Amino acid sequence: MNVAIQGLGTYLPERILTNHDLEAMVETSDEWITTRTGIKERHIAAEGETASDMAAKAANIALENAGITAEDVDLIVLGTITPDQQLPATACFVQEKIGAKNAFAFDVQAACTGFIYATSIAEQYIKAGTVKTALVVNTEKLSAVTNWEDRETCVLFGDGASAVVLQEATGDEKGIMSSILKSDGKYTDLLRIETGGSNEPVTAENVGENRHKMMMSGREVFKLAVGSMVSVGKEALEAAGVDVNEIKYVIPHQANMRIISSISSKLKLDLDEHFYNNLPRVGNTSSASILLALAEAIEAGKIEKGDKLLFVAFGGGLTWGAMVVEI
Ligand code: ACO
Repeated sequence: MNVAIQGLGTYLPERILTNHDLEAMVETSDEWITTRTGIKERHIAAEGETASDMAAKAANIALENAGITAEDVDLIVLGTITPDQQLPATACFVQEKIGAKNAFAFDVQAACTGFIYATSIAEQYIKAGTVKTALVVNTEKLSAVTNWEDRETCVLFGDGASAVVLQEATGDEKGIMSSILKSDGKYTDLLRIETGGSNEPVTAENVGENRHKMMMSGREVFKLAVGSMVSVGKEALEAAGVDVNEIKYVIPHQANMRIISSISSKLKLDLDEHFYNNLPRVGNTSSASILLALAEAIEAGKIEKGDKLLFVAFGGGLTWGAMVVEI
């Protein structure tokens, strides 16, 4: 059975925070951010706008594009590192907001690899015959866990949401041709939010120290990101039986243009011709990033039915993964 993307939806909040805005907040410059990351601006959720609000907007568009209603959805898998609350799952808030009353819903926490993980899980349910229609949603309100006093992280992240409807392919498209998931718990300390879980419940003291915000060892993450994404990308290509030269676009997790450029050299695929990036306009939106870029590429008329794409991602955990998809 081939499992295919039948509908795609995205949402970006209205407010835009530029590098110049950040210059007024921390000691940084547009020049530093642009040359080190490629990011020029990012979207920031409105006050009171939650991760599930953004997710519901993206999900409704995906349902409409798939030509189905929320009641047709059997499963919602939602990837996020910024849930509305610690309990219950953000997927359940989305279920209620879109009216997917026949679905069962749960969250997956795989940081920036959340889209690959959530999609792969949903694919397995469909292939097993347990589920006919799955809605995969990725939503991130990273502005809520960003330490706005830490120049090393606050320049990187943006908010946004994306969603896909997955069903058995109806035509001759191959859909998801392979998906490979990886993790290594040796590196749990490289990307973390320490406070708020059972190990370190919230106190006035740890909040005062900003330990409820995201912390990252950027240089170490950078070093591991390139090698991991290249090797998992090659593994996914091999599993799909697809040569790298058959790939129309690699759409990598949008974390840093220097990381993406290194992946392009190592895969020997031209950066301008075979990679689609929207990092300058949206920043790093963690699990939402790959579909936000895919939607832009489709909108720009750069992707046609039958094109083969390689998605690769890397994030906290560490987790990483890749997927070959024929659209
Ligand atoms: N503005 C100006 N200077 C800065 C800034 C800033 N915003 N941030 C750091 N600097 C300074 C540092 O203090 C340092 O100064 P020093 O040399 O005097 O000590 C200098 O710039 C260089 O710092 P580095 O950390 O070496 O900079 P680097 O080139 O590694 O870039 C970055 C940092 C952009 C964070 C990079 O390491 C990176 O992109 N890492 C990967 C991040 C990533 O991919 N995350 C993905 C997962 S995210 C997730 O899962 C949610």
